[in-house]
Amino acid sequence: MEKIHVGPEDRVFVLTGAGISEESGLPTFRASDGLWAGHRVEEVCTPEAWKRNPWLVWDFYSKRREDGAKAKPNPAHVALAELEAKLGERFFLCTQNVDDLHERAGSVRLVHMHGELAKSRCERECGRAPVDDRKIYGSLAEVGHCECGGRLRPHIVFFGEIPLEMDHIQEEIHKSTLMVVVGTSGSVYPAANFVHWARQGGARTVYIGPEAPLNASAFTHVVEGKAGEVMPGLFVA
Ligand SMILES: NC(=O)c1ccc[n+]([C@@H]2O[C@H](COP(=O)([O-])OP(=O)(O)OC[C@H]3O[C@@H](n4cnc5c(N)ncnc54)[C@H](O)[C@@H]3O)[C@@H](O)[C@H]2O)c1
Ligand SMILES: [Zn+2]
Repeated sequence: MEKIHVGPEDRVFVLTGAGISEESGLPTFRASDGLWAGHRVEEVCTPEAWKRNPWLVWDFYSKRREDGAKAKPNPAHVALAELEAKLGERFFLCTQNVDDLHERAGSVRLVHMHGELAKSRCERECGRAPVDDRKIYGSLAEVGHCECGGRLRPHIVFFGEIPLEMDHIQEEIHKSTLMVVVGTSGSVYPAANFVHWARQGGARTVYIGPEAPLNASAFTHVVEGKAGEVMPGLFVA
């Protein structure tokens, strides 16, 4: 079985996408045809949709919360948590996923660049922090409001909004000597550019997944297979 060697001087930056949660039963965008209730997901998860029909948006994310709560971390999530336990602050995880399977597997040094299903925040960006919220709403009337009067919205980066923690992410990519990308199609920006930034800094870049991503040529190495099958035992630190 092939191995990825992580030396004592290496700093590892990991980027994960929907593919790492596929074996936990959460469909990737493409596997679900990108459709929901007859709408293209790109038309449900937008600031415009939120303005036009906030219930459509909440109904969609309530269903995602329901699915997310039933899912369990798989061996790929566990392999990353174990690698972090060995590397400590030489490890950093950035996920595009909004589920909490990385945390539930034990990951600590992570950011959710596209937000988190289990949180809500004020629609008015009034400065109050996101709040824990795992409620599955049955109607818009059940959705609470912020102290400022704004309606609570999912703490999710909608299409067209700027990802979270980009400064922090860029800094971590800059410091890394090894980038590991798992289960992402390389079609959503700016995440699809991370591998290029890492290469510019001279890092080794590894992709893990069952098919080549759109930005495959930027990787120095590809481990072909399902994340949950190839990642246990893959890293030697
Ligand atoms: N679980 C979640 O939180 C979740 C689920 C669906 C979509 N999303 C969002 O969808 C957007 C789409 O981008 P994306 O690139 O993450 O998803 P994507 O649907 O565009 O691509 C999924 C990728 O995963 C790969 N894949 C499928 N099964 C795999 C497996 N078992 N192991 C490893 N790889 C596997 C596919 O080959 C594909 O390249 C992201 O912004 C993300 O936030 C999140
Ligand atoms: Zn507010």
